[in-house]
Amino acid sequence: MKFSFFAKFYKYYFKVKRTEINELLKTTEAGHKINVKGWVRTKRGSKNVSFIALNDGSTINNIQVVVEMNEENDKLLERIHTGAALSVDGMLIESAGSGQRVEVQATKLEILGEANPNEYPLQPKKHSLEFLREKAHLRYRTSTFSAIGRIRHAMIFAIHKFFNDRGFYNVHSPIITGSDAEGAGEMFQVTTLDLENMPKNPDGKIDFSRDFFGKAANLTVSGQLEAELAALALSKVYTFGPTFRAENSNTTRHLAEFWMIEPEMAFYDINDDMDLAEDMLKYVIDYALEHCMDDLLFLSKRLEEEEKNKKADERSMELIEKLRFVLDNPFERITYTEAIDILKNSNHNKKKKFQYLIEDWGADLQSEHERYLVEKHFKKPVILTNYPKDIKAFYMKQNDDGKTVRAMDVLFPQIGEIIGGSQREEVYSKLADRMAEMHIPEESMWWYLETRKFGTVPHAGFGLGFERLMLFITGMGNIRDVIPFPRTPQNLEF
Ligand code: 4AD
Ligand code: MG
Repeated sequence: MKFSFFAKFYKYYFKVKRTEINELLKTTEAGHKINVKGWVRTKRGSKNVSFIALNDGSTINNIQVVVEMNEENDKLLERIHTGAALSVDGMLIESAGSGQRVEVQATKLEILGEANPNEYPLQPKKHSLEFLREKAHLRYRTSTFSAIGRIRHAMIFAIHKFFNDRGFYNVHSPIITGSDAEGAGEMFQVTTLDLENMPKNPDGKIDFSRDFFGKAANLTVSGQLEAELAALALSKVYTFGPTFRAENSNTTRHLAEFWMIEPEMAFYDINDDMDLAEDMLKYVIDYALEHCMDDLLFLSKRLEEEEKNKKADERSMELIEKLRFVLDNPFERITYTEAIDILKNSNHNKKKKFQYLIEDWGADLQSEHERYLVEKHFKKPVILTNYPKDIKAFYMKQNDDGKTVRAMDVLFPQIGEIIGGSQREEVYSKLADRMAEMHIPEESMWWYLETRKFGTVPHAGFGLGFERLMLFITGMGNIRDVIPFPRTPQNLEF
């Protein structure tokens, strides 16, 4: 009785605390007791000894656990397979094998959670990205998705740091909205009305006055309009929130739910806006190169492997080289009109290689055109400005030519449009006229218009699609693989 009490006491007070694997792998002095916890990536063995590669998500790298065969360990090892969770007490020793500096000589193994190899879907072999999308609840356990998870965090942090260091305030814009910010009409409706039994007005239309908010409500497509309200008092603000678009585009670059960063700055014109966008993109790329190199090197190898069967001219630039390239070169800045001239006169257009041929000024650019400008013509990121007003939103600052607006889109290799922004129309009458022309109801936007009535000033902003940025940084080809649980048409698992 007494003995058992002391045994418990001893165990509690002298239990070695857990060290995370990234810390263990950095240790230069070996030869001390440690405890490590994680999930088994692989197990292989010989007659006398087993090797377990353990990973806890703190780094892309595994730590090797060496287990000597004896009666007790044999029984445990039989139950340890890929995917199992372990706690290992042992000695951190210098590794004799190549590839790692240190390893763990296990003195005590504890199985925290088993993973039956007949059922666990992630076996130690190459799985396709499509297969892993169906196993999104487990895919963080793979090297690829843990690397993406860590980089995603680093990019969120870098974006907040970039703005904080420059005196911007982060503002929360609402997620449920009573207005259609972009006038695009691709919104998800929010209601508590009984869909089986909708209250109707005498004219047969739905009576939204009986809905939760007393009017029709939607999920926001952008935080911009509210960010503008804040910028017209706080000067420099940014939002970083989820946005929702019910566009039925099943592409590798569209999500129904994605995250957007929207800075908005009073007293900025379109050129200040472009400078900020370029600075921000370069800052976060630089941050990734400085803080995520292990993960980037892994993803670079993954990409190389994936593209090894492609023809040389179809392969992407090596990932880290590509990031450095964007960092080191000024973005090309041209007008929409110049871009149309380039596209119209391109061999690509003449040989009818575009799906949508460019014929006239005024055409909306498709991602094939954007990528042509970036990848084939300029071979670097491009910022396009002064688009035709008819293909852009109502709030953009109108140029004196009466035809164009002070929009700016940043186009990236592999992605196409990564940022969309503009200087805003700050003149009350011009904005009100444009809203009327575009049938934007003034009664739901009166508050936005009022900012142009009281102390209006020139201002500008932009929106960065966070997952498009993640595509670029990670070199992944499908936007469904850079957000943990993607929402796309006909897809709402997890
Ligand atoms: O160009 P967009 O529609 O601009 C706005 O929403 C403005 N209110 C931004 C502003 O000026 N404050 O969207 C901005 C960016 C795009 O450039 C793209 O990177 C991303 O958001 N984006 C999407 N990303 C993933 N899936 C989608 N369906 C996206 N739609 C836009
Ligand atoms: Mg856009």
